[in-house]
Amino acid sequence: MPARHPAPGPREGRGAGGRAGGGVPSGFKVFLKLKKQTAGPRRLTDRPEPLTFTVNGQEVVAYQGETVGAVLAALGQRAVRLSEKYGAPRGLFCGMGVCQECRVTVDGVSNVRACMTPVSLGMRVELPGVEGPPHG
Ligand code: FES
Repeated sequence: MPARHPAPGPREGRGAGGRAGGGVPSGFKVFLKLKKQTAGPRRLTDRPEPLTFTVNGQEVVAYQGETVGAVLAALGQRAVRLSEKYGAPRGLFCGMGVCQECRVTVDGVSNVRACMTPVSLGMRVELPGVEGPPHG
């Protein structure tokens, strides 16, 4: 009965050279090469200019490209609305526009999904029935 996972032959599983270290570079060698190429003073992310908008009347700083939901989560605002049936607090659940749990009022338009709405300068976000954000 043949072994289920036979050992690699002399030229298999060790790169094209047939021995460890030769032939195809390992992932670690690629990592070291990329690290050397990108060495130097850099920022981890290049953020755009900050912008401000309001959440329940409090001014909040965010960056272009962030969603309202991401900013609220970063502020520690877990509840963004109350459920219609029981008045229980609701917040971001799926984070990708499916569950509808993150609905807020944006510039007077109700039931806007916070997780799918990018922030913009001067935007007015209201959290229906919920106080917040904690750190304006
Ligand atoms: S968190 Fe699910 S739709 Fe926004």
